[in-house]
Amino acid sequence: ADALKIGIAGLGTVGASLVRIIQQKSNELAVTCGRPITITAVSARDKARDRGIDLSTVTWFDRPEDLAEKGDIDVFVELMGGAEGAANVSVRTALQRGLHVVTANKALLAYHGVELATIAEEKGSLLNFEAAVAGGIPVIKALRESLTGNSVSRIYGIMNGTCNYILTKMEKEGLSFAECLKEAQRLGYAEADPAFDIEGNDTAHKLSILTTLAFGNQIAADDIYLEGITNISIEDIHAAAELGYRIKLLGVAQRTDTGIEQRVHPTMVPVDSVIAQVDGVTNAVAIESDVLGELLMVGPGAGGNATASSVLGDIADIAKSQPGAQRVPVLGHPAATLEPYRKAQ
Ligand code: NDP
Ligand code: HSE
Repeated sequence: ADALKIGIAGLGTVGASLVRIIQQKSNELAVTCGRPITITAVSARDKARDRGIDLSTVTWFDRPEDLAEKGDIDVFVELMGGAEGAANVSVRTALQRGLHVVTANKALLAYHGVELATIAEEKGSLLNFEAAVAGGIPVIKALRESLTGNSVSRIYGIMNGTCNYILTKMEKEGLSFAECLKEAQRLGYAEADPAFDIEGNDTAHKLSILTTLAFGNQIAADDIYLEGITNISIEDIHAAAELGYRIKLLGVAQRTDTGIEQRVHPTMVPVDSVIAQVDGVTNAVAIESDVLGELLMVGPGAGGNATASSVLGDIADIAKSQPGAQRVPVLGHPAATLEPYRKAQ
């Protein structure tokens, strides 16, 4: 089958990880995606910056808008960030051109998701955004696909890795808020402007996307009760622990008799609850629905590889869906190539 040609705008924490994984796993991906995945073009701000990745065979675009408009690509992958500016313009351009789009940008979707989805639907393009909520946890797929036929009543969880990392590290290592935030930034977890993390906006952006998927309403990112973790002190954390609680930044959306309630705030959760055990950059999303009951998904919520894993899953879905793709093996590998089982000694 023909290769799926992708263009990546944004080569920071997530973009560079994605390039590395695609290049390292190209042979496996050609099988599991039903066709080879080829990076043909990229864009970032600083062409001279050493990103530890091989860009010798790809076309560089100084402007992501030009990559979206003129790149020799089937899929535009947006990994720059920001609700406005280059991300907004280039994603729109790509969709108008009839390209498929993959993005990890929750701020963009929180404010322009409905318009972008409308363009994608009109053009017959796919707009995939698994990485935009809870990093590596496949919660979008769960809501869009696996839970089809369920009516969701409540969705809640820890949706910001930076905040959970800070709260965990303050409690377990006694470090200051500022030190923990600095470390989260160094590890690539935080937003370009970390105020979005610690003031709760990032959780609100993600919650608003989940709310729409769960309840079928217009995205309402500004209509959320919002309180971040900036006022949480080590004394608060210790006081909660003495009472048998841990403090977590939760996003909660639920159906009520009068409408949908959305809120983001630090919450005292009983120390013996599962959600209280979710530490560090790990996220957790609970979905309560009528047919399935309660589903709890826990996993890495931020960081280059965790996020690139979801982006790659979205690219793979597009690769498999296009005409001419090899049929994806039922058991993940072609049945004829399965190796004899070798039991560990
Ligand atoms: P980074 O800040 O590490 O990287 C951003 C990249 O975008 C950089 O390569 C930068 O170029 C490029 N860029 C920014 N603005 C422009 C522009 N105007 N024109 C061209 N290139 C531009 O961000 P992350 O990789 O951390 O995040 C990317 C996206 O993924 C964001 O939407 C973020 O919210 C989302 N996300 C991030 C996660 C994480 O754990 N980091 C997890 C889930 C989602 P240059 O390098 O030259 O400066
Ligand atoms: N800054 C975000 C976080 C990245 O810490 O969760 C993942 O969306």
